[in-house]
Amino acid sequence: MKVQEIFQTMEYGPAPESNKESIEFLDSHKRKFGLFINGKWVKPESNEYFESINPSTKEKLAEIAEANVKDVDQAVKAAGKALKSWVEIGGHGRARYMYALARQIQKHARLFAVLESMDNGKPIRETRDIDIPLVARHFYHHAGWAQLMDTEMKDYKEIGVIGQIIPWNFPLLMLSWKIAPSLAMGNTVILKPAEFTSLTALLFADICKQIGLPTGVVNVVTGHGDTGAAIVNHPDVKKIAFTGSTEVGKIIRKATAGSGKKISLELGGKSPFIVFEDADLDSVVEGVVDAIWFNQGQVCCAGSRLLVQESIAEKLYKKIRVRMETLRIGNSLDKTIDIGAIVAPVQLKVIEDLVQKGIDEGNTIWQPTLVCPTDGYFYPPTLFTDVAPSSSIAQEEIFGPVLVGMSFRSHGEAVKLANNTRYGLAASIWTENINLALDVAPQIKAGTVWINCTNVFDAASGFGGYRESGFGREGGKEGLYEYVKHTSDSEFRDSPKKIKTTEPPSSNGSSKSLPKIDKTPKLFIGGKQARPDGGNSMAVLDTFGNQISEVPKGNRKDIRNAVEAAHSCTAWGSLTGHAKAQVLYYIAENLSARSAEFVTRIMQQTNQSQTDAEKEVATSIERIYTYAAWADKYDGNVHHTIQRNITIAMPEKVGVMAIICPEELPLLGLISTVIPALAMGNSLIVVPSEKSPLSATDLYQILETSDVPGGAVNIVTGHKDELCKELAKHDDVDGLWYFGSAQGSKDVELLSADNLKRTWVSYGKYRDWYDKSQSEGREFLRHAIEIKNIWVPYGE
Ligand code: NAI
Ligand code: MG
Repeated sequence: MKVQEIFQTMEYGPAPESNKESIEFLDSHKRKFGLFINGKWVKPESNEYFESINPSTKEKLAEIAEANVKDVDQAVKAAGKALKSWVEIGGHGRARYMYALARQIQKHARLFAVLESMDNGKPIRETRDIDIPLVARHFYHHAGWAQLMDTEMKDYKEIGVIGQIIPWNFPLLMLSWKIAPSLAMGNTVILKPAEFTSLTALLFADICKQIGLPTGVVNVVTGHGDTGAAIVNHPDVKKIAFTGSTEVGKIIRKATAGSGKKISLELGGKSPFIVFEDADLDSVVEGVVDAIWFNQGQVCCAGSRLLVQESIAEKLYKKIRVRMETLRIGNSLDKTIDIGAIVAPVQLKVIEDLVQKGIDEGNTIWQPTLVCPTDGYFYPPTLFTDVAPSSSIAQEEIFGPVLVGMSFRSHGEAVKLANNTRYGLAASIWTENINLALDVAPQIKAGTVWINCTNVFDAASGFGGYRESGFGREGGKEGLYEYVKHTSDSEFRDSPKKIKTTEPPSSNGSSKSLPKIDKTPKLFIGGKQARPDGGNSMAVLDTFGNQISEVPKGNRKDIRNAVEAAHSCTAWGSLTGHAKAQVLYYIAENLSARSAEFVTRIMQQTNQSQTDAEKEVATSIERIYTYAAWADKYDGNVHHTIQRNITIAMPEKVGVMAIICPEELPLLGLISTVIPALAMGNSLIVVPSEKSPLSATDLYQILETSDVPGGAVNIVTGHKDELCKELAKHDDVDGLWYFGSAQGSKDVELLSADNLKRTWVSYGKYRDWYDKSQSEGREFLRHAIEIKNIWVPYGE
């Protein structure tokens, strides 16, 4: 026998990792865990417990407390009490505690890794080499952000008590992604682990005790969905951070609508793994293994859709099948296995059912000859090929070790297929041609794009979704904004600032001193003035109730047309920052040339003095200059992530956005909200002030003469809240800003849940549009973009 043959035929014996320490930890709690509230272990009010099992062996590990509404209330109270001193201790004080947490996690890394493997079923190799090191890294990195908060986040402050609900696929890692940034920014937390995997969170609670973390800063309440819902609905919880299913994400969006609670959602995915014909296929095969068999495929960003160029498809499938034969499946504590157990019988059933559906739909299935152990919940690695893009296994998240392959011919088709999903969490691109990779990366709607690598994570990089994969980022500087509020938030008023008005000399019709308005404006759609679909108009009155004009009353059909026009406008979004700036300066120039007219119009609508109207126009022009300036300066970052990697955090437009303008200040209110969204490359549907829409309809000509491409700005006048509802429901609108009433804000958050639009609403609070700190700058730009992180490895 040659050496090579020996290697090929060699069988590994099992190499079990010792679980002695984990058993000791469980025994030290008598295998029965209470809730961790205010720094103490307490019994659940209901005295109910449930079991946590080891999915590799089905053996019971411990009993876990089921927290109810009263327990959650106790935890929220504890977190509320701890808040003040946690803020006052300052960034440096918090950094020291967080550093201590990181150190302690490192010291107990083995215990954490083994316990996680036992509770979840994931291979010890992964918890040891990936999960736990990343957890420690997350606390170190964010200890640093705590230290730097004073200088780097000086316009922001803590939110308060944060509720955090996490899933079972990366139990401790998700805990760290949630707890580290919250603590850094001065918040206190109540965290609920997933019901299948609470143990490492409970060990973490012990660590908090050990390092003397002030009591109440971290509270861990265990339980099922109802416990999660109690956290979501608690009035003193000011923000919810959730990772889990898209279904529950939508429930949370609806449950918190109008409450003013900030939410971040990290949901499912069906991420494309795109292989071009010039890719290094042996690297691709290892990439596939990491993409879909890492953590048994129970990964939100798993590369579960293999898109391969037709010319190499068969060759690649063959190589993948050969590699699949060598995968080892078994007990999670065996150091030689590649694939562990599925977390629970229900999840196994979901996978089995979806695979059956895939077979029933006529797709070709292939599984290796390996035999799954029968003492736990195992599922073999599975490959479907020649899958139709519309079939359910190509669209639905399977959350298991199942790869779905399909082929494409051209680069354009690859991008289309990649984006043919309601999700947008991640993507990976495989090609030796860096130009091709960097051309494709921005075209894919996903929060993370890996080039010639996959499933790489680091605390310094943001992670999160586009579309129905949720909103918000975790990690990187971009992730900090989820855990702070702008200091000017507390300056907003309950009613708009009163303006001084004078009744016009004559009250029959419009004022004598101002020119009559004899022309009824139209709508502005696709760069053209358009008649409203319903042919209805509504009266425009001044502050004293005198009719000064009429405007079209837009309806659902007009909104649909406007959204379509915004979608087909590709010219605007693809301009460079410099080119967009030129157009914005041009708008300012044209507005300036016609400022007298705009002053008059403001006076007619609002009965303000000429001085005040002049101030509004002048400030509007200045504000356009501000965003023209920003258009080529709102940069991204290159993050310091792991070695031999460039991680580019790139701001991208949200897409098609609806802007529902404030009622007050007909011109400045519109300019302050529309222009920043435009400057970032979005195409817009604008609903102007309902009461005073004429400053918007006067802008048509300016937009027409300022080189704004048709469809980049569409304006629909009418009943603001009615039009807004249509926009909130519309599946092709990606983002929506609403400045108006508390009820209108609630409607937006409720109705936008179905496609999980990014929304920004005013909750019936009013800014001072003249105050730059409240109404201008980065805060507006940040809401007009999403950050995509592109990972580019280098070296050999
Ligand atoms: P899930 O979304 O039900 O559970 C996630 C967390 O939310 C758990 O802590 C759970 O107790 C909690 N929860 C459940 N209902 C809640 C409610 N109404 N209010 C507040 N919290 C609630 O996910 P599940 O049932 O464990 O898995 C189902 C599917 O979700 C999986 O097959 C997978 O497709 C997807 N999923 C996605 C994850 C991701 O990382 N994006 C993680 C886990 C699951
Ligand atoms: Mg378990």
